[in-house]
Amino acid sequence: MFEPADPTTAAALARLYDLDLTEDPGDLDLYLALADRTGGPILELAAGTGRLAVPLAAAGNVVTAVDLDPAMLERARLAADAAGVAAGDLELVEADLRTLSLPSAGDFRLAFIGLNSIMLLADRNDQRRALQVLADHLAPGGLAVVDVWLPDAEDLARFDGRVILEWPRADPVTGAMATKAGSAQYDAATGTVVLTAIYEEGSQGEPARRWVRRDRLRLLGAHELAGFAEDAGLRVEVLAGSYDLEPLGPGAERAILVAERR
Ligand SMILES: C[S@@+](CC[C@H](N)C(=O)[O-])C[C@H]1O[C@@H](n2cnc3c(N)ncnc32)[C@H](O)[C@@H]1O
Repeated sequence: MFEPADPTTAAALARLYDLDLTEDPGDLDLYLALADRTGGPILELAAGTGRLAVPLAAAGNVVTAVDLDPAMLERARLAADAAGVAAGDLELVEADLRTLSLPSAGDFRLAFIGLNSIMLLADRNDQRRALQVLADHLAPGGLAVVDVWLPDAEDLARFDGRVILEWPRADPVTGAMATKAGSAQYDAATGTVVLTAIYEEGSQGEPARRWVRRDRLRLLGAHELAGFAEDAGLRVEVLAGSYDLEPLGPGAERAILVAERR
């Protein structure tokens, strides 16, 4: 986000993040399968509300989930409690991933940054650094995974700041209606997209409460991502175009890098 949110806003945005992701991106099975292959422990950077970390821990893996937003981590803690995750199976760490150096660095068998989160590091050097942090925390032979969105030229041409109503939804806990409107603005000069999400909550005929989140995403191509991995001492195993790890082909909407620590 551009500015740190006050605690009330941060808590609302974390709750609404989960409402946003009630549409399953479909990536969990990939991480469960890779966890079966590598074993634990597992490290997730920019883990948010634990959408991936919590089910990985619930499946019996030992997971460390890192995020710099305490409100997101609080949601992860609640989700872990609800899923019955054992106390020792999920560690939540509030930290900036760019400067992360855990005492358990070098022990992890799987370390990943899911669902476009590396793009929130809006600077090339920070994105390169993120790959180095993954590599530094892996044991030899461990796997690093990074998942990025690849908008095409048509997408970028549409990202002109127009506001689109994305959804009306009922909060599953409170039953209250919420709506999300979103705007994307592409800046060709910096290769970044500013995403603005405007959430409104409120009952019929009553004033709405509005929460706004703005993020700048730096676009990075698959080739650049693979270069960062090689620079960090990782060997690229596959650059895939989908969560079933089919090779990246023309028109792919995302790139998933799987790379091994040498
Ligand atoms: C879009 S959420 C993704 C959460 C999770 N990976 C998922 O797939 O649901 C991105 C998360 O990245 C976190 N984040 C952004 N920059 C960060 C940084 N420098 N260090 C740690 N976390 C960061 C944000 O706080 C946010 O929770």
